[in-house]
Amino acid sequence: CGIVGYIGPREAYPILIKGLQRLEYRGYDSAGVMLYDGGQIHLSKTKGKVEDLKKRAEQEIPTAGNLGLGHTRWATHGVPNDVNAHPQVSNSGDLVIIHNGIIENYGAIKKALQDRGYTFQSDTDTEVLVNLIEEVKKSEGVKLGKAVQIALNQVYGAYAIAVFDRNKPNEIVVAKLGSPLAIGLGEDEFFVASDASPFIEYTNNAIYLDDGEVAIIRPGKEIKLRKVEGDTVVYPNIMELQMSLEEIEKGGYDHFMLKEIYEQPRAIQDTYRGRLLADQGLVRMAGIDNHLEKFTNADRIIIVACGTSWHAGLVAEYIFEDLARIPVEVEYASEFRYRNPVITPNDVVIAISQSGETADTLAAIKLAKEKGAFVFGVCNVVGSSIARETHAGAYTHAGPEIGVASTKAFTTQITVLTLIALKLAKEKGVFSESEFHEMLTQLEGVPAKVERALQSNDLIEAIAEVYKDSTNCLYLGRGYNFPVALEGALKLKEISYIHAEGYPAAEMKHGPIALIDEMMPVVVIATRKGHYEKVVSNIQEIKSRQGKIIAVVFEGDESVKELADHVVEVPATSEPLSPLVTTIPLQLLSYHIALMRGCNVDQPRNLAKSVTVE
Ligand code: G6P
Repeated sequence: CGIVGYIGPREAYPILIKGLQRLEYRGYDSAGVMLYDGGQIHLSKTKGKVEDLKKRAEQEIPTAGNLGLGHTRWATHGVPNDVNAHPQVSNSGDLVIIHNGIIENYGAIKKALQDRGYTFQSDTDTEVLVNLIEEVKKSEGVKLGKAVQIALNQVYGAYAIAVFDRNKPNEIVVAKLGSPLAIGLGEDEFFVASDASPFIEYTNNAIYLDDGEVAIIRPGKEIKLRKVEGDTVVYPNIMELQMSLEEIEKGGYDHFMLKEIYEQPRAIQDTYRGRLLADQGLVRMAGIDNHLEKFTNADRIIIVACGTSWHAGLVAEYIFEDLARIPVEVEYASEFRYRNPVITPNDVVIAISQSGETADTLAAIKLAKEKGAFVFGVCNVVGSSIARETHAGAYTHAGPEIGVASTKAFTTQITVLTLIALKLAKEKGVFSESEFHEMLTQLEGVPAKVERALQSNDLIEAIAEVYKDSTNCLYLGRGYNFPVALEGALKLKEISYIHAEGYPAAEMKHGPIALIDEMMPVVVIATRKGHYEKVVSNIQEIKSRQGKIIAVVFEGDESVKELADHVVEVPATSEPLSPLVTTIPLQLLSYHIALMRGCNVDQPRNLAKSVTVE
């Protein structure tokens, strides 16, 4: 979910709506706003997108007021409908809350409140929380800030909340545990949001709350931060924001996803800029340089991540083992955290996350730290929870990624991980100076190759036209390109809702081959390097069963061309760098198919970009 709030001299409503639109990547099944006009609370909520909310609110309520809260939801408790949308209001009608997260013990609290006469309109855990705050306020005779604090000590779970009390109309109380919350500091005004994008044009100064902190926000006063537990005062750390407005707008593209696909040559370059110094024969990364021995002495590297980031982790497994000769395990963070894994202080854990907020990845990091491992983060969002929770890390510098389906985050994650692997290969003496130098030069050549790969856009659009009505699709690759096949399949299913599976090409004969007939498109990554002949044999096997073959090959390929129904050529690279290039046509293919099927490319159904619940 995404939350946004405003208190200050401006009209709150336009800030809330624009802010919610920017936060919509976090969830978009329902939305709501609350405006306070100095006397009354006005509330409007609806199932659907922020655009639907806007239409409804403008008909339903006076949208004036200098204080407001807004929410865009990704349902956890209760189906997406008008009633379950946030803000939620307490029984007295005085308290209003917006919440991102899950209150796990809401059932027991709800029961206790019901015994005291409270009634509930919605199925949400959030309505329980706002009434708990109300009950604490009444029974303990305390003000809002204190009541929020006491109530939060009684709940388990995750939250980023903002609460308003009509009886204290000059303040908003916010708190965070597990879900992100940023406060934008203007002149005599404050913004509250799940990330800084809603207030980027108003201020460059922000405070990111840490877990377990609560803040009372009052224009004209300094922010008071406290620990929810123990009540100690915390002095806020004001950060200067790096994000620019331009970066979070579509800049002439129809969709964020397309813009982000096309940004990859630049994003990859930004990721290695200042780190890859080919002329000096160096890779310089502070996060690694300061902890080099942890890496060179590591018994193994464990990579934890979710979704697309997990696929980047799988590519990294090939890179680290192949180039740096360090054993690697790649784990879904959600499995790792609960399976009592064997971790020792000689392990290095690398957590990969675009958002830096994924709840399961965050929990996996905490577990690894408890077991004494050194934990390194690869994140895109600067200052995110994972970036702060890890011992050290390297940012991907891809710039904000807004399309829910991850594209440039994936290629830049691979870029960072490649840099690390190359550095370690050299440090460990696996690579000679000249091999190292050669790879650095090749990596510097990747952005231009990605640029060339993007030129196949029209061809891919034509291929998409042929297969847009398919119901299934298979993606095959081997070696470094096996994870690319997984990622290609994920992209297609995420945004076009076509069932797609990625498989190691050779494994096809142990199952998926049963699915192949003339209706089944099979995307095969068949680069000349690495098992080429074997992949060609796999293509033969598909062909003899009438499957339709879309092959991604290196420029100048001959053998596959004779067999495949469609061929997309990308510039040749050395094998370890090939995922950075072979991924591009697969991203474009899913984009065009989704578009032709009338799907919402940037906000596919049921998904959210940043999953801050487990
Ligand atoms: C969600 C997104 C995916 C993303 C995954 C992990 O499922 O829709 O695109 O790969 O979360 O997110 P992270 O921010 O940790 O990389």
